[in-house]
Amino acid sequence: MGDAANGAKLFKTRCAQCHTIEAGGANKVGPNLHGIVGRTSGKVPGFAYTDANKNRAVSWNEDTLFDYLLDPKKYIPGTKMVFAGFKKEKDRKDVIAYLKENS
Ligand code: HEM
Repeated sequence: MGDAANGAKLFKTRCAQCHTIEAGGANKVGPNLHGIVGRTSGKVPGFAYTDANKNRAVSWNEDTLFDYLLDPKKYIPGTKMVFAGFKKEKDRKDVIAYLKENS
């Protein structure tokens, strides 16, 4: 289990420029991520996803997010999410714990 408090810090510095997390938060460059754990990809209303993201139809859970956040473009070829990925397992676990807390 990751450290959600550290995940919150990572989210603020690495994800929040493109994503909000609070319930009903706006879509920015990326979709609002409230409730992402347990949801299928490409489902936030009003967000213009790529076909790559929608058609991948991934069920977001701790395992799939763990692989995705290592290298998003490898996991979803053609995604428009520009993020190099977290190489450290701990960073991924911590940010996933934070996403879970907000799901
Ligand atoms: C999509 C997480 C950083 C832009 C997504 C999705 C997740 C995610 C889970 C899939 C959403 C869905 O299927 O509904 C994260 C996390 C980040 C991060 C945890 C930090 C570690 C970023 C950054 C940007 C960004 C820095 C912008 C520079 C996007 C975009 C999409 C997306 C544009 C939609 C992808 C598409 O339609 O192809 N993100 N993201 N994300 N993210 Fe991120």
